[in-house]
Amino acid sequence: QQQQPPPPPPKPKQRNLLDNASNLLTNFLSGGNLGAMPIAEGAVTDLFGKPLFFSLYDWFLEHGSVYKLAFGPKSFVVVSDPIVARHILRENAFCYDKGVLAEILKPIMGKGLIPADLDTWKQRRKVITPGFHALFIEAMVRIFTKCSERTISKLEELTESEGQVILDLEAEFSNLALDIIGLGVFNFDFDSVTKESPVIKAVYGTLFEAEHRSTFYIPYWNIPLTKWIVPRQRKFHSDLKVINDCLDNLIKNAKETRQEADVEKLQQRDYSSLKDVSLLRFLVDMRGADVDDRQLRDDLMTMLIAGHETTAAVLTWSVFLLAQSPTRMRKAQAEVDSVLSNGAITVESLKKLEYIKLIILESLRLYPQPPLLIRRSLRPDKLPGGYNGAKEGYEIPAGTDIFVSIYNLHRSPYFWDRPNEFEPERFSVPKKDESIEGWSGFDPNRSPGAMYPNEIIADFAFLPFGGGPRKCVGDQFAVLESTVVLALLLRKFDVELRGSPDEVEMVTGATIHTKNGLWCRLRRRT
Ligand code: HEM
Repeated sequence: QQQQPPPPPPKPKQRNLLDNASNLLTNFLSGGNLGAMPIAEGAVTDLFGKPLFFSLYDWFLEHGSVYKLAFGPKSFVVVSDPIVARHILRENAFCYDKGVLAEILKPIMGKGLIPADLDTWKQRRKVITPGFHALFIEAMVRIFTKCSERTISKLEELTESEGQVILDLEAEFSNLALDIIGLGVFNFDFDSVTKESPVIKAVYGTLFEAEHRSTFYIPYWNIPLTKWIVPRQRKFHSDLKVINDCLDNLIKNAKETRQEADVEKLQQRDYSSLKDVSLLRFLVDMRGADVDDRQLRDDLMTMLIAGHETTAAVLTWSVFLLAQSPTRMRKAQAEVDSVLSNGAITVESLKKLEYIKLIILESLRLYPQPPLLIRRSLRPDKLPGGYNGAKEGYEIPAGTDIFVSIYNLHRSPYFWDRPNEFEPERFSVPKKDESIEGWSGFDPNRSPGAMYPNEIIADFAFLPFGGGPRKCVGDQFAVLESTVVLALLLRKFDVELRGSPDEVEMVTGATIHTKNGLWCRLRRRT
């Protein structure tokens, strides 16, 4: 594909009161410069039948990388441009909140990091981020391994007699990710890989409802009395109560066994001698970080949901892609065999599983989780000029709903060679045409400190974990978790899709998942 020469990136703009007042006036007089923006008219049918982000991609190619999507009286600005995305997510991040997404998630996550108001977010982010320190991540690697081995043992049993089995790997990944997040975030062993329980059912019920709400465009659940009258809402509230009771209990126990210490001390704890290595333990023990139980519960619930489905999805699509590329499957297995042999995984050996990590990242490029980031402007703003079809900047009024389409950015023909192809190697080769400032391919030696190809290296053309202050807090956790699970699976099994790839349809809510599961044939490796 032809690439366009990039314009120089704009300087971050300092806003001041006068700026804002003049914007307000301009918007008031002109109805906002939104009027000049290309418009894609959506039919209501676009909302059903296929994932919305497919249509957003077609309209991106047709209308350019900043356009307005109008559904009757409702409209969204759709952004598929790295410079504009960088402005919204990083340079002027606090001019935006989570808009529609926060409205949907508040009943479930309360004031957790994702839907929280700015003041609460600032306080909680400051406390939660240090929780993901190096020794915690190292302790997590042991949890990832322990939980993965439980899944591998189950699969070994299933393949015992015939050497192979057909099963839905998406469901297995979902259970495994739930077990990991339960132990890592609040030291609760769901053990969903081997059993069912009311709490597990309640978690899946709640996830299902969160998913449903994010694709349902009329928030009928806010109508008074629906909670009692509509059966699915009644079920949702009873599921929520089961999880909340469970979390309240865990918080109570953690507080009763509190061992208060300064944050620096906590970050040097010897995790190998601790029974409870969870994030909850850290948050409760941190001196000066007292917080009420309700907030703690919101934090835990948010991380349970944010860290579960996303990881299960990235594993699902990694296997989906690998299973269609036997050469890459063998290359990945050769790496695993040479790095791990039959030994245990350590943080050191994980660093050497470079190809596995690139598979995870390439899968996140093609199937970003979530495919769209949602924002709403709190004040009028001026979006900068960008690349294709977005050379003009646009004034936007306060209250503008925005989709930053990661899916479009990640498959943009303007920034990626063969954008729809699965090529994990693309990250390790410096790009010949360095069309994006700062992008030089992922070379750990030339990108010190970067654990994986990230948004900084790619200057916001690649956003596997978002960017700016609201970037994922669990990015390292997630990359290492997925690497461990995939490596341990490939060490023992060859994987094939049961049918044709086209039969694996996509559906989407917050994340992209399959319509009817990822049915695969697993064969024991000899
Ligand atoms: C935020 C992706 C795993 C916790 C985000 C965002 C993305 C993302 C794109 C930014 C959302 C936005 O800007 O609107 C992913 C992916 C994961 C993953 C792809 C797995 C492959 C995790 C894990 C945890 C976690 C394991 C926790 C243990 C969070 C939280 C936020 C977040 C709390 C909100 C941060 C804030 O607003 O300050 N994630 N995530 N995520 N993620 Fe992750």
